[in-house]
Amino acid sequence: MHFQWYPGHMAKAKRSMQEDIKLIDVVIELVDARIPISSMNPDINTLAKNKSRVILLNKADMADQRYNNAWKEYFETKGYFASLVNSKSGTGVKQVQDIVNKACQAKIERDRKRGILNRPVRAMIVGIPNVGKSTFINSFVGRASTKTGNKPGVTKGKQWIRLSKTVELLDTPGILWPKFEDQSVGLKLALIGSINDNIVNTTDLSLEMILLLQKNYPNVLVERYGIESFADDLDIKGASKLLEQIAIKRSCLLKGGEPDVDRAAGLLVDDFRSTKLGNITLEFPPVIAKETPNT
Ligand code: G4P
Repeated sequence: MHFQWYPGHMAKAKRSMQEDIKLIDVVIELVDARIPISSMNPDINTLAKNKSRVILLNKADMADQRYNNAWKEYFETKGYFASLVNSKSGTGVKQVQDIVNKACQAKIERDRKRGILNRPVRAMIVGIPNVGKSTFINSFVGRASTKTGNKPGVTKGKQWIRLSKTVELLDTPGILWPKFEDQSVGLKLALIGSINDNIVNTTDLSLEMILLLQKNYPNVLVERYGIESFADDLDIKGASKLLEQIAIKRSCLLKGGEPDVDRAAGLLVDDFRSTKLGNITLEFPPVIAKETPNT
């Protein structure tokens, strides 16, 4: 499966983010808790050099709970402030204020030493499409905030939302476009719906998804669709056979009674996206070496 991915408006969006980020002290990056690495955009490391960094593992409710905390720890060991969030229900959103405050401390301290007092720290939310930026901002900002309006000369045309006495948030999130050479990254991004479905062949996508599930969640399809269990070393041909089985079980049939694999593929991808297959994580945190306490 091969993806071509060249959104035309990408260069413009990147330029505008480059401008915005100059005004920012803290970058809050939303990633998808099911694919935390593939849903990051490596460009942000250059764009946000020398800024405090917060990583929010959003859609934590859709991910496999067994890995959520390990991912959080992983990012903390890499020097980020990190937290798990469900922006849709609001779980974990309130705690983000504390994390942002902590991420701002160094900047506030630096300002204080230079005699700058009461200058608000500025934050910006960034993330790839569909990761939940708007949902998060709505939930995070809630009703408590007040828009501070334009500040002529300094931040022309920008709207800032006051989050607390010390922190202001740029009200428009920065969109980072997915970036990948590795096709397996593209596959995961397509599965979570961050790549436009028009450029992806759903049947191919579902076959790759079957292979991924087979490796990490071998019972999920058997349980959901009541199909026969399948071989450990499933290949793409085996995945096609399995999709046919799903089509038959779900009565996705063509006029002649043949299995309608394309329809079954759509169903399978939808079932993944709506968590009908359960909470599934598609990327796993590297094992984090824990220090053994000296007792
Ligand atoms: P974006 O601005 O980054 O592009 O993403 P947006 O907020 O539009 O969110 C994309 C979809 O993800 C929305 O679903 C939203 O409800 C959902 N979403 C965002 N955060 C979370 C989360 O933490 N958990 C869950 N379960 N879902 C989340 P949608 O189907 O497009 O819209 P809607 O039907 O929910 O309104």
